[in-house]
Amino acid sequence: MDRPRKLHVKSYGCQMNVYDAERMVDTLARDDFVETKDSGDADVVILNTCHIREKASEKVYSELGRLRDLKDAAAREGRDMKIVVAGCVAQAEGAEIVRRAPVVDVVVGPQSYHHLPDLLRQAAPDKPAIETEFPVAEKFDFLPPPRPQAIRSRGITSFVTVQEGCDKFCTFCVVPYTRGQESSRPVRAITDDVRRLAEHGVREISLIGQNVNAFHGEGPDGKAWPLGRLLEHLAAVPGIARLRYTTSHPLDVDGSLIAAHRDLAALMPFVHLPVQSGSDRVLAAMNRRHSVADYRRVIDRFRSACGEIAFSSDFIVGFPGETEDDFAATLALVEQIGYAGAYSFKYSPRPGTPAAELTEAVDKAIMDERLARLQNLIDEQQAAFNRSFVGRSLEVLFEHHGRTPGQLVGRSAYLQPVHVMALADVIGTVQQVAISGLERYSFFGSLTATTAAPAIAPPTRVASPLITHNGA
Ligand code: SAH
Ligand code: SF4
Ligand code: F3S
Repeated sequence: MDRPRKLHVKSYGCQMNVYDAERMVDTLARDDFVETKDSGDADVVILNTCHIREKASEKVYSELGRLRDLKDAAAREGRDMKIVVAGCVAQAEGAEIVRRAPVVDVVVGPQSYHHLPDLLRQAAPDKPAIETEFPVAEKFDFLPPPRPQAIRSRGITSFVTVQEGCDKFCTFCVVPYTRGQESSRPVRAITDDVRRLAEHGVREISLIGQNVNAFHGEGPDGKAWPLGRLLEHLAAVPGIARLRYTTSHPLDVDGSLIAAHRDLAALMPFVHLPVQSGSDRVLAAMNRRHSVADYRRVIDRFRSACGEIAFSSDFIVGFPGETEDDFAATLALVEQIGYAGAYSFKYSPRPGTPAAELTEAVDKAIMDERLARLQNLIDEQQAAFNRSFVGRSLEVLFEHHGRTPGQLVGRSAYLQPVHVMALADVIGTVQQVAISGLERYSFFGSLTATTAAPAIAPPTRVASPLITHNGA
């Protein structure tokens, strides 16, 4: 019998890429590909790439060098290994990738990967297949639904793309060019996905989109629904214990989202709301289209709707022309808001973006120093936020086994990992945990009492052959 064809996917970048990687696996499973963790043993290797900063895109080329050796080794064994570059570098660089790295057989952009099976068939030695169009037809209409077996193997949390692309055109950012125009999936299609995931054991859904709160998908009533309304609708799906969404833009926070945080127990009180800078001058140069005061008002609205809400953010330091005063304003904003955590990045000029034309580059040493100061402040805030839970009780959704036998790991509403000793049947349920200790970013504690029993059986039981097998 033929050996099954094997597929290895390596994903970089944001959650959208994680989701897309899973959908590529689902798509190729229809052609009987099985996933392997070993790239050397694969018939197809996909690099699902990120173009957001220079470092991210350069990683692709060093990885392609390594894959060339693996492909040669496979050829010596008489195996044909195909190399695919997908994701945002594929979209941004297209045919240039094959010129720089002739080892590549297929280049496919984030809006076209449903064509992967055809592209792999078309690709021949010396004739790579390249597709980086933004097709008019919705790729979601062509993607197969996730397979039950795949859903179960991916655990009890899942991403679901609800919105793609971005029309904001922040001057530093490649996303509007790599992911194209903003568009939303219909509510019915999203709900079908969420139902299917819940039926196979998923308990927590993160709705994702580059600009997720610009969501305006068509509702069952034919009208455009805002994100808050979608969240309310999904909170009613049996089995769904928790909902999250990421990444939001401050300008698109509307009344429906604030109301969702006030009213929905399933909606986690943790919002990633990037601000990038605390200086109005820099925000204007970034074309963020809001002021620092606007951002603080948005935070206040969330806080008055939901007492226990916490925030994270993204920051860019060293945007061209950023002065010490601008940077001090960023530190001041961080002090005022008090974050549960945040990501901070050094500005990296991206080809084709308006900011790449700006000439007042910030000195590299100054950038490093500012990044370190900002990261220190954020780390202190995060540590203080985490310490505030020791000795208190937290609701935890248990996800998987820990490293020590008998240990289970779950996450709090704020995505903090929590470790307890407990029986495996709490996996997939939300439990109250008394937090006794904190080690770096992880909590340790013990179960107090069962809080929310799962609405339907947890994944281990759903997967049981006793349930799925109908004896003759
Ligand atoms: N859609 C989201 C995030 C997009 S990318 C938003 O609007 O916030 C994730 C983060 O990468 C951004 O928030 C920004 O902080 C960072 N980033 C994007 N482009 C960058 C660049 N050219 N240099 C440095 N950081 C960048
Ligand atoms: Fe990029 Fe700005 Fe769009 Fe976020 S909102 S994806 S930073 S252009
Ligand atoms: Fe990177 Fe593309 Fe996401 S550039 S951050 S993978 S949208």
